[in-house]
Amino acid sequence: MTRRQVGILLVTHLLIYFLHCNAFTLKCPDSSQWYLRSHSKCIDGEYLCLFDTKDSTYKEICGKGEEIAREGRKYVLKPNPTEADCFPRRYQPFTFSSVGNNQCVFSKSFCQAKGLIAASNGTTIKDRTCRCDYRQNYDYLIPPKDPCSCKPAEEDCSCYIRKCEDGKIMIAGKTY
Ligand SMILES: *[C@@H]1O[C@H](CO)[C@@H](O)[C@H](O)[C@H]1NC(C)=O
Repeated sequence: MTRRQVGILLVTHLLIYFLHCNAFTLKCPDSSQWYLRSHSKCIDGEYLCLFDTKDSTYKEICGKGEEIAREGRKYVLKPNPTEADCFPRRYQPFTFSSVGNNQCVFSKSFCQAKGLIAASNGTTIKDRTCRCDYRQNYDYLIPPKDPCSCKPAEEDCSCYIRKCEDGKIMIAGKTY
């Protein structure tokens, strides 16, 4: 390799290094690593790793103690630990503890399979529910407990397209 080639390689590597490392944002430790991290980070006080609303990034602090939020809520830094609603894409059906957690516990399900549409977008406490789009002639392969509100985390919400026989019209998933 010529000196010029080596130079180009070096510059490229440095560029990748800086771009990559400057793009780094803190991720909170996984719950399995939480204990180790908290002991290396906080001698006194409770280790907290929470979303800072000002910088939109996760930050570690040594707080006064465990923070407990009621269902549908979590803790964020503002810059002090403050209760806040779950993000719309997540939900928290039981009380939130800041020990081992940095966001609402569950991700909401999607209604993305063919023929499936959202029946409700859920709440900060409840998951999204789905239903087969009967207006497009879709129906359940296996009927769920409540056909108006299938729970993708608990039930099989798969849909198939049904063919209507001549002279019959489809109303709300039933043929007449
Ligand atoms: C769910 O949210 C999406 C996006 O905000 C919206 O288009 C849709 O109408 C909502 N569905 C229901 C059932 O509320």
